[in-house]
Amino acid sequence: MNSESRPEVLISSNEIAATVDRLAAEIRRDYLGKDPLLLGILKGSFMFMADLIRLLDFPLEVEFVRLSSYGRGTESSGKMNVVQGLRSTVKGRDVLVVEDIVDTGLTVAYLMEYLSKKRPALLKLCALLDKPSRRRVPVSIDYIGITVPDKFLVGYGLDCDEKYRNLPDVCILEGE
Ligand code: IMP
Repeated sequence: MNSESRPEVLISSNEIAATVDRLAAEIRRDYLGKDPLLLGILKGSFMFMADLIRLLDFPLEVEFVRLSSYGRGTESSGKMNVVQGLRSTVKGRDVLVVEDIVDTGLTVAYLMEYLSKKRPALLKLCALLDKPSRRRVPVSIDYIGITVPDKFLVGYGLDCDEKYRNLPDVCILEGE
């Protein structure tokens, strides 16, 4: 990646940091003292999760699941399957799902349904980015960072064919 191919910045790293700050304060109000299980969806949420938990000053557990919805490129296959399953017990736990972006909604709808069958005490969803214009199934997001337009985004953990995850800003991929 050279400077010429760097995509256009949509959300700067400063704006992301302020948003993560606000989300952490909202989450703290609901989860303080509950020893929650924060469940990130790989791979896109790893950076968001790392920043978020540093702002949560109480005991918690972190785990990641990996689901596949996107193949290579930018279009969703619409098919869901858990690739890497859960190791922690969900029953009776206060769970918070941490997602980078909700697009069609298929990924989180699938995971929330999967988790709710395991009977957690509390199950909420936090998404850094929300792209409601592309929704195919209804999803209720408890903590929303920033609503974004219908553009394919990369950076801050988001990829296109495994590239651009390391960009500090959320950027619009040219030509999408
Ligand atoms: P959904 O199932 O369509 O809501 O898609 C959710 C997943 O698709 C996210 O966790 C991302 O990994 C990926 N995704 C959705 N939109 C984008 C985007 O604009 N850029 C990169 N990845 C995206």
